[in-house]
Amino acid sequence: MKLFITGGAGFMGSNFIRFMLEKYPQYEILNFDKLTYAGNLENLRDIEDNPRYHFIQGDIADENAVNTAVAQYKPEVIINYAAETHVDRSIMAPKDFLITDVIGTYALLEAVRAHQVPKFIQISTDEVYGGNQHKSTEETRFDPSSPYSASKAGGDLMVQAYWKTYRTPVMRTHSCNFFGPFQYPEKIIPLFVTNLLEGKKVPLYKGGEHNVREFIYTEDHCRAIDHLLHYGELGEVYNISSGDEIKNIEVTKKILHTLNASEEMIEWVADRPGHDQRYSLDSSKIRELGWEPQWSFDEALLETIRWYQAHEDWWRPLKNGQFLEYYQKQYKKE
Ligand code: NAD
Ligand code: TYD
Repeated sequence: MKLFITGGAGFMGSNFIRFMLEKYPQYEILNFDKLTYAGNLENLRDIEDNPRYHFIQGDIADENAVNTAVAQYKPEVIINYAAETHVDRSIMAPKDFLITDVIGTYALLEAVRAHQVPKFIQISTDEVYGGNQHKSTEETRFDPSSPYSASKAGGDLMVQAYWKTYRTPVMRTHSCNFFGPFQYPEKIIPLFVTNLLEGKKVPLYKGGEHNVREFIYTEDHCRAIDHLLHYGELGEVYNISSGDEIKNIEVTKKILHTLNASEEMIEWVADRPGHDQRYSLDSSKIRELGWEPQWSFDEALLETIRWYQAHEDWWRPLKNGQFLEYYQKQYKKE
């Protein structure tokens, strides 16, 4: 099978490419990635010489570039991992989110239509449902809070519209928070782990005693997308989640405990504007298809912390990013 993966140099895209190349010796993959701050070819060093792996640097919002790549490669499936993904960045600078997450999704859908690609899978987020007190099913109304989740919702609705209007062969997924190796150190788990490894405090938003996120380990998510690729139905939407709901303060304490750091390393900072209190998904639909997570949160967190401890050469250069420094110093200040 020929897969066209967008955003394959990012956290989850690179994990998925590695997973699929290992699992299916006959599959071929093209990674189409703009290489933004979050795209990192170091994530793919071990597979860059694999003859079944190809890379094109390109922007999904550039219709010509997408068209040319799809026309030449003739994929059987396009899986759209590419996105601007970080809520705090979207609060500070929303425009790139609109361009990539909405226009980029549109450009891919047009290419799927023009070149009759048999399958398109949109990777999206539970954040489109808003910070609900209740579990969200696939039928829950979209109610995004941040420019990130609003942009993802826009892209997702465009995917839905292409199914309804043109019968473009699409499928959509909404996933809970990912974590694991190669996650850019700006999301809570890798940021806090690497801060502590650097001897720095961890900036926990006030309200962190109550904010709840549901976390899924990379490998379980890769298996979920693989499962949907083979058993999911076109036109359908699938929530993907672990059931592991945990408060930010509890995640933080587990990380502190594993790294033998005291709770004095917590720095309570001003809350995130529009901060969603809880994300929680009902994922019974994909489980009825035969998928279920295999990792417990505690085992996966330990595995992840050990990975960051062993890969300082990977994450240390990323911590010097101007924007990361900027928003940590300015925006998170009380
Ligand atoms: P990431 O931020 O680690 O990587 C994003 C990748 O997309 C990077 O390689 C970047 O270079 C690429 N990219 C960005 N803009 C592009 C463009 N215009 N054209 C081509 N490539 C572009 O992202 P991630 O955390 O791996 O998330 C992957 C997908 O999963 C996203 O669609 C995200 O919305 C979704 N998602 C993420 C989470 C999470 O917890 N991180 C949870 C649910 C869903
Ligand atoms: P994040 O990893 O940014 O994922 P998302 O907001 O997309 O779910 O944040 C997860 C939770 O951790 C969220 O409630 C905000 C909180 N958080 C902090 O308290 N401090 C931080 O520095 C970050 C990045 C997040």
